[in-house]
Amino acid sequence: MALLELLKQRRSVRDFLDKPVEREKIKLCLEAARVAPSACNSQPWKFIVVDDGELKKRLCDKAFSGIYAINAFCKKAPVIVVIVSERSKFLARIGGMFRGTKYYLIDIGIAGEHFVLQAQELGLGTCWIGWFNERAVKSVLNIPKDKKIDVLLALGYYDQEKVKSGHSREPLDKISSFNSY
Ligand SMILES: Cc1cc2nc3c(=O)[nH]c(=O)nc-3n(C[C@H](O)[C@H](O)[C@H](O)COP(=O)(O)O)c2cc1C
Repeated sequence: MALLELLKQRRSVRDFLDKPVEREKIKLCLEAARVAPSACNSQPWKFIVVDDGELKKRLCDKAFSGIYAINAFCKKAPVIVVIVSERSKFLARIGGMFRGTKYYLIDIGIAGEHFVLQAQELGLGTCWIGWFNERAVKSVLNIPKDKKIDVLLALGYYDQEKVKSGHSREPLDKISSFNSY
């Protein structure tokens, strides 16, 4: 599929089919994330794939309760991918401090979207999740307390007929210009 068509086809999926996702497909998504660019080639990420039903239930029950219950739809996702934000290389951290830019977040975003787009190509739906109980995720998955988890991804098969088409986005002339602001 042409890239722009794939990009336009992708929507956040919040209703998943009760169908397991093949490990081979998950590995292709991980491979897509692995080759993502990052500041100073820091690769400041670790992807923890949770596809064990029991563990995933425990994770979701804790991560999406209370004030995070708006994301309880994730309980139906067959896979949750936890993206641990690892430490960037020294130069990227110093450069980032100097510039006031969190390069690692840009890196995580690119790698995560590589994962998302590969998933889309394989017929899998995803949803970025930024609102969750980080402490609960760490405790269920034995992630050291000093690590940072900025985002998760929900992943699974979905009913393509049910996904709304067309994005609600600003027009091109509002978000871009040539040669001056
Ligand atoms: C960093 C980030 C965090 C997000 N967090 C959530 C979330 O916690 N829950 C949710 O339902 N969607 C979340 N989304 C999905 C956005 O709401 C969605 O991408 C946006 O509304 C555009 O819709 P589309 O993805 O269907 O094009 C998040 C997206 C990004 C990029």
